[in-house]
Amino acid sequence: MLSFTTVFLASLVGSAFSAAVDNSALITKLRDAPTAVDRINLLSDDNQFVFNFFDPAAKAVSGKGGKIITANAATFPAVVGNGAAMAVGILEPCGMNTPHTHPRATEILFNTNGTTIRTGMITENGGRFIMTDLSPGGMTIFPQGSVHFQVNEGCDPAVFVAALNSEDPGALQIAQRFLGLSPDIVAATLGDIGVEEVMGLDSMIPDNVAQSTDECLKRCKITRVKQDTTQRQSRVSGNAFPTGVSASAWPTASGY
Ligand SMILES: *[C@@H]1O[C@H](CO)[C@@H](O)[C@H](O)[C@H]1NC(C)=O
Repeated sequence: MLSFTTVFLASLVGSAFSAAVDNSALITKLRDAPTAVDRINLLSDDNQFVFNFFDPAAKAVSGKGGKIITANAATFPAVVGNGAAMAVGILEPCGMNTPHTHPRATEILFNTNGTTIRTGMITENGGRFIMTDLSPGGMTIFPQGSVHFQVNEGCDPAVFVAALNSEDPGALQIAQRFLGLSPDIVAATLGDIGVEEVMGLDSMIPDNVAQSTDECLKRCKITRVKQDTTQRQSRVSGNAFPTGVSASAWPTASGY
């Protein structure tokens, strides 16, 4: 019944699963299916094999530097059982997909039309830093677990396509997650900089996709705007800020 509703609603918006529709009942059925044949036959509408990254209703991670839309098990159930997902990044001029890892996937990223998409990566302790400048048609690889980022160095919007070898690749944004650990641990890790300073940093992390460097913004004549900070780690007892400590003395991000 639920899956019928899902299919029906999805067909109303034209492209089956890019819209923000709850697919959980269907996904449960697909995961429980004994064979791949059963999964194929559960997906009875051809539209369930179409995902449109340009559908404005497609679920996206977004910030002032652009957005990232991912077709994964949740948004595109046809991938269930197939170990693959795809993400498309629409980067504004000087847009940056901030440093992150994918806990369950290696990524292969292709610059479709950006002037230059700069990427950087560190794979693990001991591995050297790798930077690439991808012109249109250029592709690179980010091994599973590597810390990596992408920046649109051009003054026009850019689009990249990323293939991932998991239907549930996941993403872990380094700054938001690291500064969301216990404040005293973060402060000590950073050379005992103080809990107030940690609190100040936490509230400055722009939402992904963010605006990139001053150099790029200046070159493209773009003014840095106030960016939301909604993607920071939520606080529970273990990583709560100590009561009575205030970050108010710490300056807010400059350049707005
Ligand atoms: C890339 O494609 C996007 C979307 O069609 C377009 O807005 C942008 O101007 C293109 N960028 C370049 C550098 O051609």
